[in-house]
Amino acid sequence: MDRILILDFGGQYTQLIARRVRELRVYCEIHPYRLAAEAIRAYDPTGIILSGSPASVYQPDAPISTAGLWDLGRPVLGICYGLCIMAQQHGGAVSRAARREYGRAELTVDDGADLLAGLDSPQTVWMSHGDKLDALPPDFRVLAHTDNAPYAAIRHPTRSFFAVQFHPEVAHTPQGKAILANFLFRVCGCRGDWEMGAFVREAVERIRARVGDGRALCALSGGVDSSVTAALMHRALGDRLTCVFVDNGLLRKGEAERVQAMLGAHLGVKILAVDASKRFLDRLAGVTDPEEKRKIIGAEFIAVFHEAAARLANRVGPIEFLGQGTLYPDVIESVSVKGPSVTIKTHHNVGGLPAELRFTLVEPLRELFKDEVRQVGRELGIPEPVLTRQPFPGPGLAVRILGEVTARGLDLLREADAIVEEEVRAAGLYEVLWQSFAVLLPVRTVGVMGDERTYEHVIAIRAVTSLDGMTADWARLPADLLARLSNRIINEVKGVNRVVYDISSKPPSTIEWE
Ligand code: XMP
Repeated sequence: MDRILILDFGGQYTQLIARRVRELRVYCEIHPYRLAAEAIRAYDPTGIILSGSPASVYQPDAPISTAGLWDLGRPVLGICYGLCIMAQQHGGAVSRAARREYGRAELTVDDGADLLAGLDSPQTVWMSHGDKLDALPPDFRVLAHTDNAPYAAIRHPTRSFFAVQFHPEVAHTPQGKAILANFLFRVCGCRGDWEMGAFVREAVERIRARVGDGRALCALSGGVDSSVTAALMHRALGDRLTCVFVDNGLLRKGEAERVQAMLGAHLGVKILAVDASKRFLDRLAGVTDPEEKRKIIGAEFIAVFHEAAARLANRVGPIEFLGQGTLYPDVIESVSVKGPSVTIKTHHNVGGLPAELRFTLVEPLRELFKDEVRQVGRELGIPEPVLTRQPFPGPGLAVRILGEVTARGLDLLREADAIVEEEVRAAGLYEVLWQSFAVLLPVRTVGVMGDERTYEHVIAIRAVTSLDGMTADWARLPADLLARLSNRIINEVKGVNRVVYDISSKPPSTIEWE
């Protein structure tokens, strides 16, 4: 099997390189740059890619690739910092650039064989670096240049060592994928026959190797990430996996049944369902502060999960492993170089249980992006409606009931929310929107129904478009859809006499109201 080894020097785009390689249907793995030559040889890579890095090669403690990398007889592609490493270790000179180059540049191709075959010249590429190559290593050849970088793409005179100063993996380098394809197919001779089914087989093997004959737990929320993790772990471990599904009473209409039917009945996963709704409601009684609500729900969730795990262990024996649906974007956020940022909202995620639970973590989706997780889910037979479900916050409807969370408020909101989902789906917009939902406001307003004065609740509708939830725009929903939503909610949900539409974007507002 073809395999590409990506040596990670800490660059912000390393996972994106991996993703592009997978898109080109070649299997790849990311390893730390320190990987010893012996380990690299044992991995038997078809080719090696050196990533970018925030470091500079001339710093005393700069990450340096392992001695012996160049004697393995394998093709190497250096990207950005990878170019500096390759150049420096072959006798070139690298120094700090007078000014950082960041952004688009026009690349002129000087040698259109191999790496740059079939590419336009000039073409736009994305630069992001603070160092520059002052002198080419002896005998190296220039393949392309920009106004600012005379050695934007280079190669070894005889061996298959290539390097580029720019980032072919980012979308801002429109022909970048073709460059990576040239490296994989022309230079390394990869076949490009790997697919997500193979990812599933390999992930299953890795989970088995990790867990051995031990037992594992997964916390199930009904969201895409936890469902795919559970299905994957189930394929690897069968009945040695138990999923704990905590019904906190803050779920959407029919959600608890839906999750259990899909993973339990449909995929045969063993599910321990815990109905803790009363417990959560009791703890939330009288609480109106959003952060306090979030903290209570997070802590209660951990307590319930912990108790369920202990009961289960009493029955079946020790459970050492915990499956978590961590995705790559979660990984970058948690190791952000920007340092701790101000807490806007304390996020609570079913996937993110704290370390004190003393499980060994298994995170089979750690290298994937959301859409790749969906592909894995499809391979595993998870139905499409689960895979395309809009995000739902861990604290559930509690952060969509402003003020105190009550059983009556939950009933009301659940009904209104179900109407929003039904109508948005019927309008063909459910998958276009990032999220669309109802919010119950803590005010009552006067209305007239029949000949009677009413004094009842207000429902706000929130619908946003977004790529990642970090920023969002309010959705320009068609007026007739808004009219249907308002009509149906006021007529069908007893206790509501007014519906309003939220026209705020993020920032400065957030998507959820609390
Ligand atoms: P905000 O409201 O911060 O939300 O603009 C951004 C995205 O995150 C979701 N969200 C959460 N997801 N646990 C989660 O797993 C949480 O505690 C949580 N709070 C908000 C929100 O639905 C939106 O998609």
